[in-house]
Amino acid sequence: MDPTRLLLLCCSTLLTLAASGTASRNCPDLTVDSCLCSSERSKGLGRQKSVYVKVVCSGGELMETLQPSLLPNKTVTLVLSHNKISLLKNRSFIGLNSLEKLDLKNNLISTIEPGALYGLTELRRLDLSNNRIGCFTPEMFLGLFNLQKLNISGNIFSTLIPGLFQELPSLNTVSFKAESLICDCNLKWILHWSATASVKIGEENTCEHPSHVRGLIFDILKEDQLTCDGPLEIPLFKLIPSQNQVVFHGDRLPFHCTATFLADATDINWFHNGELMRTNEDRGILVEESIIHDCCLITRGLILFSVDMEASGSWECQVNTSHGSVIKRVEILVLETGAPYCPAERVINNKGDYRWTKTLAGVTAFLPCTQSPYISILHQERNMELEAWRKCDRTGHWAEEDYSGCAYSHEVTRLLHAFSLMEINSSNVNEYAEQLVLYTGGASSFTDKMDVLYAAQMMEKLVPFVDHSNQLSDAIIEIASNMMLVDDQILWMAQNEAKACSRIVQCVEKISRLSLSNKAQVLSKVSRNIALEAVIIKPASFIGMTCIVYQKTSSNSVRPLIHGNGNLHAENTRNQNLIVKCNNGNISGSLLHFSAKSGKKYGLFAYTVLPTLRYLTTDVAEKRASKFSSSNNIR
Ligand SMILES: *[C@@H]1O[C@H](CO)[C@@H](O)[C@H](O)[C@H]1NC(C)=O
Ligand SMILES: *[C@@H]1O[C@H](CO)[C@@H](O)[C@H](O)[C@H]1NC(C)=O
Ligand SMILES: *[C@@H]1O[C@H](CO)[C@@H](O)[C@H](O)[C@H]1NC(C)=O
Ligand SMILES: *[C@@H]1O[C@H](CO)[C@@H](O)[C@H](O)[C@H]1NC(C)=O
Ligand SMILES: *[C@@H]1O[C@H](CO)[C@@H](O)[C@H](O)[C@H]1NC(C)=O
Ligand SMILES: *[C@@H]1O[C@H](CO)[C@@H](O)[C@H](O)[C@H]1NC(C)=O
Repeated sequence: MDPTRLLLLCCSTLLTLAASGTASRNCPDLTVDSCLCSSERSKGLGRQKSVYVKVVCSGGELMETLQPSLLPNKTVTLVLSHNKISLLKNRSFIGLNSLEKLDLKNNLISTIEPGALYGLTELRRLDLSNNRIGCFTPEMFLGLFNLQKLNISGNIFSTLIPGLFQELPSLNTVSFKAESLICDCNLKWILHWSATASVKIGEENTCEHPSHVRGLIFDILKEDQLTCDGPLEIPLFKLIPSQNQVVFHGDRLPFHCTATFLADATDINWFHNGELMRTNEDRGILVEESIIHDCCLITRGLILFSVDMEASGSWECQVNTSHGSVIKRVEILVLETGAPYCPAERVINNKGDYRWTKTLAGVTAFLPCTQSPYISILHQERNMELEAWRKCDRTGHWAEEDYSGCAYSHEVTRLLHAFSLMEINSSNVNEYAEQLVLYTGGASSFTDKMDVLYAAQMMEKLVPFVDHSNQLSDAIIEIASNMMLVDDQILWMAQNEAKACSRIVQCVEKISRLSLSNKAQVLSKVSRNIALEAVIIKPASFIGMTCIVYQKTSSNSVRPLIHGNGNLHAENTRNQNLIVKCNNGNISGSLLHFSAKSGKKYGLFAYTVLPTLRYLTTDVAEKRASKFSSSNNIR
């Protein structure tokens, strides 16, 4: 004998010794590690005094039930819970004539062969809960003449067939709560049977499906609540692929549909664009037979062996029962193998920097919004999907796109956008306007046409409140004046996009219309870049009007007329405001005289209005006014 074999022999002897040690003297033949044997009294009647045994093999790795011959004949309790048993074979427990309690809960049992429990003539309690049993048949319970308590809860059955417990004459308590169970007309028989056979159905037996009985205790349901007439509800219904697919001409494409099997003859049908599909060898279409699994699931497959162009469109799986049908569909887009692509492209816009990858024709590409340091308040509130998309059309050209879900990358734009969405009412309008004056103070550094658009939008929202507040018209003039500091190019783009500049000027014009009345016949507003002079005139006596607009310059230097910085000292600011002087009639000597005296051609602007004009508004600014296309219009 070589040394290796000697060692093995030695070890197996040790193992046997160790195992028999665990199983104890009550079970001399049982050599399974996870089993414990102890003595117990029988609860059966008329038994002579004798040693009864309880065998517990719980929480181990048992793949099948124990050989009955390994267990003492006097085993009264057998606990095999929390193992990995998947099958109960015919006559699995034969010879255990004294067994009163069998616990098989929390295993993986899916099949119980007919007669599996045969011979357990003394069995009182059987726990089969939390397994994977879908089909229960009366033959599974053959020979259990004394069974009183049965627990089949936590299995995967969707119904229980009539007469299921007919082999169990002593049954008095049954538990059958299961998430998959449908409490419909097919369970009516249980109400009758439990009444006539005096079987208790515990309160834990609540229903899950259909929804109108969810959470209700089965035993207190009325017969007419167990109905099959409601809308069809299928607890489980799954179509694979579940998402729309893009496939290439010639690909193999399998579909698979799974649904809860309902007692009323469920079947699955396949449709393509509304047409019932059958196997068609010429087109390479195979519609498989429906398969019913464990009495509780039905599946059916469909295979397209070589996808052709006609396969585009909607593919539908229909579950058909005698009480109606439900459908799931998925869209398939078939592309020619040589289908074009949209090229990879980098897009930098006011929502950030986006690198679109090469994308197949017909496909919509998505990109997460470029991370910006601050997420706008708006997005946080609405918890929006922060994604941009871009469509690649069928010819391989980038088509529609949408970045609106993304925040602006410039803080100013983001701020103006969020601010433009706020509600204005009479109580917050002045505060709102003051805030906007501040925001637009830095207009010279605005870089996005959207900034101008939002400013125009907000001014339009402010204008209707003007008749309430003189302060407000000052603020609007100030905002308009600020907006004239925006770079010409950007103003031009904003005007092109949505006439933003015209709209800003119109806002200023509306102020005069809203403010002038019998009491206030003259309105005069000035700011650094805009002067507004409005008068009500009597047409009969109107002889024309001449206005002159100028701006003071500092004594020692040629000071720029316009400053981008909104935080100038108030005195300074006031000094920079335009000055307007108007006289009735033709350019008068005094005004001309003034102009000559000031000695500066710079900043002088004169207007003469014909007497035929009845209503007059003049928005005048020096040369920068030309930015605003309609700023010279006089009505
Ligand atoms: C136990 O059962 C075996 C086989 O069925 C039998 O040979 C043996 O005599 C029985 N022992 C007792 C104590 O009943
Ligand atoms: C179970 O076993 C018995 C005898 O061992 C046999 O007569 C019977 O046909 C078997 N049943 C099944 C379903 O295999
Ligand atoms: C049946 O089994 C389930 C799951 O193990 C358990 O929650 C329930 O209490 C059992 N019912 C009875 C009456 O013991
Ligand atoms: C769906 O089921 C109904 C009733 O069982 C039957 O009349 C009908 O033909 C079925 N439809 C299909 C497409 O099989
Ligand atoms: C005005 O709006 C603010 C905030 O939107 C709100 O709190 C306030 O109650 C409103 N006031 C009136 C008079 O509607
Ligand atoms: C204004 O006066 C000038 C010269 O004084 C004259 O030529 C012109 O016709 C006058 N215009 C009007 C509208 O009266």
